[in-house]
Amino acid sequence: MKLNKKVLGLIVLGGLAVSGNSWSGTASALDLANSCAGCHGVDGNSVGPATPTLAGISSEYFTEAMENYKDPEGRYSTIMSRIAKGYTEEEIKLMAGYFAKQKMIRQDQSFDAKQAKAGKKLHKKYCEKCHEDGGRSSEDDAGILAGQWMEYLHFTMDDFTSGKREMTKKMKKKVQKMEKDKGAKAMTQLIHYYGSQK
Ligand code: HEC
Ligand code: HEC
Repeated sequence: MKLNKKVLGLIVLGGLAVSGNSWSGTASALDLANSCAGCHGVDGNSVGPATPTLAGISSEYFTEAMENYKDPEGRYSTIMSRIAKGYTEEEIKLMAGYFAKQKMIRQDQSFDAKQAKAGKKLHKKYCEKCHEDGGRSSEDDAGILAGQWMEYLHFTMDDFTSGKREMTKKMKKKVQKMEKDKGAKAMTQLIHYYGSQK
């Protein structure tokens, strides 16, 4: 049932993309976003756990991420730096508006209820200030953590703590304080909490 819907969605979107392109010289937001669907899913709802869902992230956060990927000294990535280079500021703006308007689908993920419960407390203490509403809000322009793929969050937090991807100074302080107070298991508990949210 689920799969059928998805396949149908792809066909419908594919049809729209073709008709959109044949009339105007410039690509529409949907055309542009469709080129990301192979990895980030239809409407930015990724079905691969190593690739983040983009649906619902703020245009500010999206734009910053893309500009940072373009910058050779900017945000670390396995693949996105190469992709981001292919898009102009104007195209990034169009896509930012598109993804911000999509509804995030929080996929079923297997999580440990005990760890998630511990993670909830940790989140309140160390993360809620900037990742509001249990990490569900996009308004703080810091991405969406609640319902994001746990595997992606694992990679991302490893990149942050190893220094591959730079944290903002204030976030770094909190993450380091948490590790000092609670040890390495704290991050895993947080990730179970984010993965548990529907
Ligand atoms: C080949 C697969 C692939 C394609 C195609 C792709 N992405 Fe990505 N994207 C990734 C992966 C993997 C990551 C995680 C960072 C990394 O390792 O590159 C990512 C991360 C991102 C992020 C960061 C999200 C966050 O939560 O911080 C943004 C924004 C993004 N991609 C936008 C796009 C856009 C826009 C397109 C289409 C123009 C696109 N991507 C096409 C694989 C892909
Ligand atoms: C002082 C504010 C602040 C605090 C506290 C904070 N963060 Fe962040 N966080 C940010 C900002 C701003 C970004 C986006 C900027 C960037 O890409 O570096 C971000 C990005 C992230 C991302 C990347 C999201 C993505 O889609 O790639 C993760 C994961 C994350 N934070 C986890 C945490 C966790 C876990 C905590 C608590 C231990 C925490 N943050 C505490 C401000 C904060």
